[in-house]
Parts: sequence; structure tokens; C-alpha cells
Amino acid sequence: MSRVVVVTGAASGNGQAIAHRFLDHGDRVAAVDLSAEGLAARSQDDWAAHGDRVLCLPGDVASEADMERIIDRVVEHFGRIDVLVNNAGIAGNPEATVLHATPIGEFDRVIAVNVRGVFLGCRNAIPVMLEQGGGVIVNIASVAGLVAFPGRAAYTASKGAVIQLTRSIAADYAHAGIRCNALCPGMIETPMTQWRLDNPDLRRQVLDRIPQNEIGIANDVASVVLFLAGTDARYFNGAALVMDGGYTAI
Ligand SMILES: NC(=O)c1ccc[n+]([C@@H]2O[C@H](COP(=O)([O-])OP(=O)(O)OC[C@H]3O[C@@H](n4cnc5c(N)ncnc54)[C@H](O)[C@@H]3O)[C@@H](O)[C@H]2O)c1
Repeated sequence: MSRVVVVTGAASGNGQAIAHRFLDHGDRVAAVDLSAEGLAARSQDDWAAHGDRVLCLPGDVASEADMERIIDRVVEHFGRIDVLVNNAGIAGNPEATVLHATPIGEFDRVIAVNVRGVFLGCRNAIPVMLEQGGGVIVNIASVAGLVAFPGRAAYTASKGAVIQLTRSIAADYAHAGIRCNALCPGMIETPMTQWRLDNPDLRRQVLDRIPQNEIGIANDVASVVLFLAGTDARYFNGAALVMDGGYTAI
């Protein structure tokens, strides 16, 4: 059956691959992103073949009004929400480094997008799922929610919070047929990480810390999200799945 899937941060990187994977699977996708231009570009290239199964909804996941409008529009258009993938996230600007050097405004911005964004996505979609008798939520956290990323205090704190929100949702809504899991990727080659990976020295430093000696790709993320959203994952709830080439194994 064609599910209705909401993917935030769908115009780039992991979100683009996740949206594409659900469309390839025959599902309908509401693609949400801050970048209206990015969504328009994806509609013309990556998702062009899927036509009316894609609904592009520009908006800010950190905005209460935007998320209310977006979820209302998805229900109006597709009639239900089977899967919510809270993927939109930011690493913070170059000043968001160690704690005492992180500007307060930048700390707030990272928390607003990465944590408040997940909260608002769930806050608006859960009532829809409760009314229809169930649903699945996949939150894109990071290994930074489990171990610290040196020099990335705000990002590390935000991803830890995403994992705890995930557990809280699993505990509170399992009885209502809602499953909620977090995926914790390690280093994935996307526009977010491109600046680092394009520098041969920095790329070598990253690879040296990964036992598998390779960087993940957005399709790796999409494959696991598709699995977590499906019935094969029916007994996964409140989990934080690590997918990092062995980064956190040592
Ligand atoms: N790339 C990695 O190595 C990696 C590793 C672990 C986790 N993640 C997580 O994966 C997710 C996607 O990251 P990515 O690497 O694809 O990054 P990306 O920068 O390529 O894509 C992020 C997308 O989110 C959108 N976005 C940003 N702020 C938004 C907002 N306020 N509202 C709506 N959309 C917004 C951007 O416009 C962009 O299209 C993030 O949550 C990130 O933390 C990435």
C-alpha cells in the first residue's frame, strides 16, 4: 500500500535520498525544506519521474506556525500521515565550536532546528497518527548524540536530545501503535560535510578514525530509514541505531 511519508530537510543530502527512496518504493512523499529553490530543483531533476506523488512544502521546522501549516496541508492533500522522518538539521556555523566560544544565538539556532524542529514535527503529526490508529516516526540523530564530536558542543547536545525525545515518544505512544526510533549515522558525504571531506588532509583524518576506512553515503541512510518505517521493523521502538562504519566501536 502506498504510504504517506513526511520528510523534512528533503532538498539536500540525506533527506533528498530518503525522499527518493520512499518514492521509488511507491509511497507518497511530502517534502519539507527551508529552501523553496532546493525543493523546486529536486522536483525538476531527482523526483521528476514521480510527479503527483510528491508534495513540496517550503517551511522552517523550527517555526510553530510553519509546522502546523505543513502538517495540516499534508493531511488535506493526502488524507493521512503514515511516516514522519524528522531529518532537517544543521551543524551550526563555524563559530559553533567548543562551548565557551559558541555564540549564544548560534547555540539557540542549532537547538531550535535540531530539537525544537523534531518536537514540532512530532507535536503536529502525533495527533493525526493517534486519530488514524498508528504511525511511524524516524528521527535522524547522529553518533554525536552518543559520543561527543570534539569542537561541536551545540550539535552534540542537540543530537543527544533527539535520542531522548525518541525514547520519550516510544514510551508514551507505543500503546497507540506509534513506533519511534532514531538513526545515528556517522560521517556521511553530503553538502553538510562536503567542506571537510573535500580537503584531503581532513578527509584522511576522518577516515583514520573509521575502522571500515570509508565514508557513508546518503543512500546508506535512506536504506535504514526505509527499513525502520516498514513492518520488518515492527519490534523496533525507542532504539538509537548506530550506522557508522565502526566509528563508535573503538
Ligand atoms: N552528513 C552527515 O555526516 C550526518 C551524520 C549524522 C547525522 N546527520 C544528520 O542528517 C540530517 C541531514 O543532514 P545532511 O547531511 O543531509 O545535511 P544537508 O545540509 O545536506 O541537508 C539539510 C537540509 O535541511 C534543510 N534545513 C536546514 N534547516 C532547516 C529548517 N530550519 N527547516 C527546514 N529545513 C531545513 C536544508 O535546507 C537542507 O536541505 C541532519 O539532521 C544531520 O544532523 C548528518
